[in-house]
Amino acid sequence: MAQKLTDILLFKPIKLREISAANRIVISPMCQYSAELGLPNQWHYQHISGLAAGGAGVIIMEASAVQEQGRITHGDLGIWSDAHAEALQPYVELMRSHGVVPGIQIGHAGRKASMQRPWHGNGPLDDSDVERGELPWDIVAPSALASGEEFMVPHALTVEQIKQLVRDFATAAARCDRVGFDLIEIHGAHGYLLHTFLSPLSNQRRDGYGGSLENRMRFVLEVVEAVRASWPEQKPLLFRISGVDGAEDGWDLDDSVLLARALKQRGVDVIDCSSGGIAAASSPAAKGLPRGPGFQVPIAAKIRREAGVMTQAIGLITDAAQAEEILQAGDADLISIAREALYNPFWPKHAAQQLGVDRGFEQWPEQAGWWLQRRAAAMAKNS
Ligand SMILES: Cc1cc2nc3c(=O)[nH]c(=O)nc-3n(C[C@H](O)[C@H](O)[C@H](O)COP(=O)(O)O)c2cc1C
Repeated sequence: MAQKLTDILLFKPIKLREISAANRIVISPMCQYSAELGLPNQWHYQHISGLAAGGAGVIIMEASAVQEQGRITHGDLGIWSDAHAEALQPYVELMRSHGVVPGIQIGHAGRKASMQRPWHGNGPLDDSDVERGELPWDIVAPSALASGEEFMVPHALTVEQIKQLVRDFATAAARCDRVGFDLIEIHGAHGYLLHTFLSPLSNQRRDGYGGSLENRMRFVLEVVEAVRASWPEQKPLLFRISGVDGAEDGWDLDDSVLLARALKQRGVDVIDCSSGGIAAASSPAAKGLPRGPGFQVPIAAKIRREAGVMTQAIGLITDAAQAEEILQAGDADLISIAREALYNPFWPKHAAQQLGVDRGFEQWPEQAGWWLQRRAAAMAKNS
């Protein structure tokens, strides 16, 4: 039997706490490596404008650093001062003007900070970067272990520095609220600071923040508690995990289920299920999961079922039918897309057409929709 249009889940509105999204498509955070001193510029405006017109329910702006030294590269956005937050306010208004829930990811790059932009090599900053005026800076992590052979060795954080980081995450969240963001995602994946506390491959501390699983989760849970306390009750909080390290003796999926339960208890609404990245790409521990369409969906599915928490699926989801199947199977509550939205910012609108729930070109921004409606009519006449 043909599926009823009303049964299509991808375009069914969803309420996250008191915030309603028009559909279940979330644009995944994507660093543009184009900021200057942590501030956005014309490129960011162009990037977010395209995505905002594209029809997603939610956009999560790129990883924004809660401390200056928590940037991956010199081109990362920051949220470490009020001025940085205020610079993002026009983006909030831009997203809202298109009916998109304005979201942002906050994080700290830890031992993967002070790196080259991807197109400059993705390695540690070197002489070629210094020539461009981009100097390396000291990096921090739970333990003094580099992410790969050629990378800098981080300083192990002191307990006082850990407490300061917890406060900085909370302050950043309050800033995001003040400038109008309605959704925050904490970056706990991809080998950045929070993930390195969780994984035994990067955390070899002997104090209360290392050793047992409970201890390795402590920093993450303190950050979440502090963020939740400074972020309004009615606004949703997401947490991105690397569901598995995909490396021997690393963080695994059962650990993630336990973490997801603990996050849910502390007010996280959705677990965004990514994977890998615990080591630099050149290191053997960076293997991760074999890539293929929807390769991380099983992580979202298991966590949703076993931790009883909403999940977001991400990773090589490029087709509307594929996205719909994930939701219909009960494997996730939200579908996130990243590179496909770079390729086609109007992916959500095309997905609606593919699934037969498109509400016509009148739903497009009129500057395009008015013309496309007429073009469609002319094409239909001549067919
Ligand atoms: C240009 C670019 C920048 C990214 N920046 C971030 C980021 O800021 N935070 C994050 O958690 N993931 C980041 N990612 C990972 C994506 O959010 C996403 O998880 C990944 O690309 C897989 O999804 P896809 O197959 O739909 O592209 C980035 C990916 C790309 C391509």
